[in-house]
Amino acid sequence: MPVDLSGKKMIVTGGATGIGRAVAIRSAVYGAKVAVFDVNDSDGQETINDIAESGGEARYWHVDVREGSEVATAVSEASDWMGGADVLVHLAGVLQGASVELDEFPEDTWDTVLDINLRGTFQIAKHVSGIMKEQRSGTIILASSGAGVLGGSSSFAYGSSKGGVHGLTLVMQNALEKYGIRVNDILPGAVKTPLKVSQVKRTFDITGDKSTFDKTMDSLVSPDDVAKVIVFMASDEANVLRGSIRTA
Ligand SMILES: NC(=O)c1ccc[n+]([C@@H]2O[C@H](COP(=O)([O-])OP(=O)(O)OC[C@H]3O[C@@H](n4cnc5c(N)ncnc54)[C@H](O)[C@@H]3O)[C@@H](O)[C@H]2O)c1
Repeated sequence: MPVDLSGKKMIVTGGATGIGRAVAIRSAVYGAKVAVFDVNDSDGQETINDIAESGGEARYWHVDVREGSEVATAVSEASDWMGGADVLVHLAGVLQGASVELDEFPEDTWDTVLDINLRGTFQIAKHVSGIMKEQRSGTIILASSGAGVLGGSSSFAYGSSKGGVHGLTLVMQNALEKYGIRVNDILPGAVKTPLKVSQVKRTFDITGDKSTFDKTMDSLVSPDDVAKVIVFMASDEANVLRGSIRTA
């Protein structure tokens, strides 16, 4: 039996490409009304068009998750449009600074990655949790990673930001359960998305190691296979789920 998300009001960030796009499309197929937030407007609109073509309901907002006022406005508009917010799947993120040595790591790259990945997560969680707190219900799924949680990362900034998102998940889970809000994070391994593929290519540019490049590219899993796990996590069937979920 497929996952049932009928009637669910969902916000999916990072829904223009990769895992977010797959989650938005799959959620709509399973009956959710979906608000997609991203900064990549052309691909974001394509996600909406694909959902509409298959009979689903979705709308796009341009939202830079670093900007508190942009996040607040979009969350409020999306919640008005949907009649509330049952689920947040927060996937917006960047990977920069791959394969750069620590003693050469640029401060502006550190700031950008931490700003988008960690501060952006705080911003979106802050505004969506306010609505869920009033509703006394909700599910929040954040994207951390194996990087910086289970082990190393190709980027000092990326691994640190994802370790931070994992920590924020644990703190939020503990603090928000009393309002009926469930908080989990997903730790994808290596998924074939623009973010991962550009990191693998950058590593190849630096090392020139073609056989590792080919092996890594062959091992990447499909974003839709990770989306299948996330839509289950978003469903009521997963209501007793706690903590972190790892995927390949
Ligand atoms: N692909 C992997 O192997 C992998 C592994 C572990 C974790 N993740 C995490 O999964 C999430 C999704 O990544 P993906 O691999 O699908 O990459 P992706 O690049 O396809 O998707 C990321 C999306 O975030 C959007 N985005 C970037 N900056 C933004 C900002 N400031 N405001 C709003 N949106 C912004 C991008 O436009 C893009 O659509 C990320 O948080 C990533 O760190 C990915």
